[in-house]
Parts: sequence; structure tokens; C-alpha cells
Amino acid sequence: MFYINEGFLDLHNSYLFATVSKKIEEFQKSHPDKKVIKLGIGDVTRPLAPVVIEAMHKAVDDLSRTETFKGYGPESGYNFLKEKIAEYDYKGLGITKEEIFLSDGAKSDCGNMCDLFGENLKIAIMDPVYPSYLDANVEAGRGGKFNEETGKYEKVIYMPISSENNFVPELPKEIPDVIYLCFPNNPTGTVLNKGQLKKFVDYARENKALILFDAAYEAFIQDEDIPHSIYEIEGAKEVAVEFRSFSKSAGFTGVRMASCTVPKEVCGYTRSGEKVHLNPLWDSRIAAKFNGPSYISQKGAEAVYTEEGQKQIQENLKYYRENAKIIVEGLKEAGFTVEGGQNSPYVWFKIPAGMTSWEFFDELLEKANVAGTPGSGFGPSGEGYFRLTSFGTRENTIEAMRRIKETKF
Ligand code: MLT
Repeated sequence: MFYINEGFLDLHNSYLFATVSKKIEEFQKSHPDKKVIKLGIGDVTRPLAPVVIEAMHKAVDDLSRTETFKGYGPESGYNFLKEKIAEYDYKGLGITKEEIFLSDGAKSDCGNMCDLFGENLKIAIMDPVYPSYLDANVEAGRGGKFNEETGKYEKVIYMPISSENNFVPELPKEIPDVIYLCFPNNPTGTVLNKGQLKKFVDYARENKALILFDAAYEAFIQDEDIPHSIYEIEGAKEVAVEFRSFSKSAGFTGVRMASCTVPKEVCGYTRSGEKVHLNPLWDSRIAAKFNGPSYISQKGAEAVYTEEGQKQIQENLKYYRENAKIIVEGLKEAGFTVEGGQNSPYVWFKIPAGMTSWEFFDELLEKANVAGTPGSGFGPSGEGYFRLTSFGTRENTIEAMRRIKETKF
């Protein structure tokens, strides 16, 4: 008999962004005359940098000639790109190309990393959290039953962040085996300084836990004292795996390209207490299940590291940062208390008292025809909050703020 993985039955909600899209679609169907501005999912709107386009065209041409044709590439990606990532993204941090694995997305890497987890592992997530980490673990049977009252899965350790703790998670009292951290944070747009991040690294070292550090938004960091990589923290190479993405930094959400860094030092343990290096395990996992991102995507990503490429992606990042500023200022003028937007493309704000995040979602859609993401969709501590993204067009961002300022909630 084919027995299913019953973890899938534990999933309480369908994927947050799919629910949001469905609701917008339904609204649009019943209000075909309304122009809905979507500032929900963090999907980019600026075209790719011209040098990236040029490199991808050239890569297609390579595939058209026998002499330059490429079939299967190395499973974990070509060295030409890994070397660039090691040199530019990890400058001065001593990360080598052998520690870098290329993939089709940070979301895939975060989920696929679960293949390395032993049975009955305890995970800790921030609350609110990017839903993919939680859903992937629930599907793998590590969530347990969902408690309707608390809005939490019984086996998961939650690290709440809100205005009460200045959006800085506390070290969990119950010791987890795996800790998911995302900074600059999705969804709140908040950051940790080196001292705050060091506490987590020290805690993981003391407790032989693994940190999965999602740095997908590091390109948005503007403040100098904020770490771009967890490896800026002493000892992190022993306990942390880091995820990077070209999606938001270079607009690759449709192209698909990311990297995962598994330092040679980082270890897990067997049940009998033996230390095992994760780098070769991840390498085997990739060899068994993946054939690497496409040559075309990797060539496009390589172009990001040229002088011109760096200049061009910065122009797009500047555009989104300005959008974020417009959103922050607009929301403040409308009387909201706002977080994020300074080192992140996400703006997180407190909604009027007495409303749930989903009620606010409906009202915003109905009254202003603006779609965002309800805070509670990211976890119970997100209740009472709402997220807007700065990845829209300038015109839509300005118009959304005009509508919000005019709306009475
Ligand atoms: C988000 O809106 O949180 C992100 O776009 C989702 C993602 O990167 O998968």
C-alpha cells in the first residue's frame, strides 16, 4: 500500500501568497472596473540589468554552436560563478568556491536543507516568519498538530518579534536543534546588529544547534553596522549555513538563481554523538537530486559581478529603496506606526486597533484597491500588523500611498 507522508495533512493553511493571490483574483472578478495595486508578494518589477540580458543572449548563442554547446553542467553550479560569489559577496570572509552551491532559489534551498535533518528534530522559527521555512518542516512531519487557539504548531519553537522586544528575537528557552533566522527580516524589514547576531551564534555553538541564515535581502542594507553575512560573526562558520539569492538583489525572480553556503567547518551529529561535516552531505544531496541551475541563468548571474553589472543593479536597488521611503513616509503621514523600509524592501506597520490583519486586508482592498500581506499570515505574532513591499512600480507606489492617505479605516 502507498502510505502518504501525513505531515502534509498537518498543514493548517494553504501557502500564504497563494491565498493572497486568490483573494485578489476574486475581488478583481467581482470589481472588473477597479485597478488593484499589488504590494503583497515581494516580486520585482524592474527589468533585468542590460549586462545580464546581454550575457544571457550570449549564453543562448553558446548553446547554438557545437564548439561552445553545454549539456549537463556541474550539479552544484559552474566555478565561473562560484568564484565570483566567493570573491565579491564574501570578500574578506574566507569563503571558498567549494563551500558555495548554486541553485534555482533560496526558497528551494531552505526547504531542501530539511533532507539533512535527522528524525524528530526541533526547529525554532521567528514569529512572524517567511512561511516557507515553517510549511516545509510541517510537511516533513516536524510541526505536529496545529493549535487553533494559539495559532501555533505544537512541536515548533516560536521566537516572537514585535514592538514589545524591538523586533529582536530572544534566545529560545527550550533548546532547538535548528534555528531559522532571516535578516534583513522578511516580513518585518527589521535588522540585527553584529552583537545581537553574535548571541545566536554563541547560543548555537553552546547547544550544538544549526543556524539556517537567510540573507536574501542583504543587498538592501544601508546602515554600516549591520552584517551582510552571518560569517562576519566569529565562530559562525562552525554552526551556520547561509542562503543568498539573485531574486531581489538583481531581479531574478523569474530567471531563478541563488546560492547556498555550507562552510567546511559546519557540522551535525549522529545519534551516537559523532561529528559529521555538512558540506559533503549537501554535496551528495545535490548530486542525487539536482542537475544545477541552467547555464543561461548562471551566465546572467555572472554578469552581475562586472563593474557595469554592479552599477546597473544598484540603480534598480536605489529605485526600490526610494519606493520604500515613499511607503514609510506615506504610512507615517496616514498615522501608522512603521518598521522596516530602511535596510529592507519590506515595510511593516501596525494596523488600527480592533481589526484583525485579514480584516484590514479586506478593507484596504475594498476601499483603496490596494493589496498587501496580512501580518497574521506570517504567524500569530504578526496579528495586528500588515506588510507592504517596495518592489512595485514608482507610479503604483505613489498612487497606493495617495489612496491609503485618503482612506478612513
Ligand atoms: C515574499 O513576498 O515574502 C517573497 O517574495 C516570497 C519569496 O521570496 O518567495
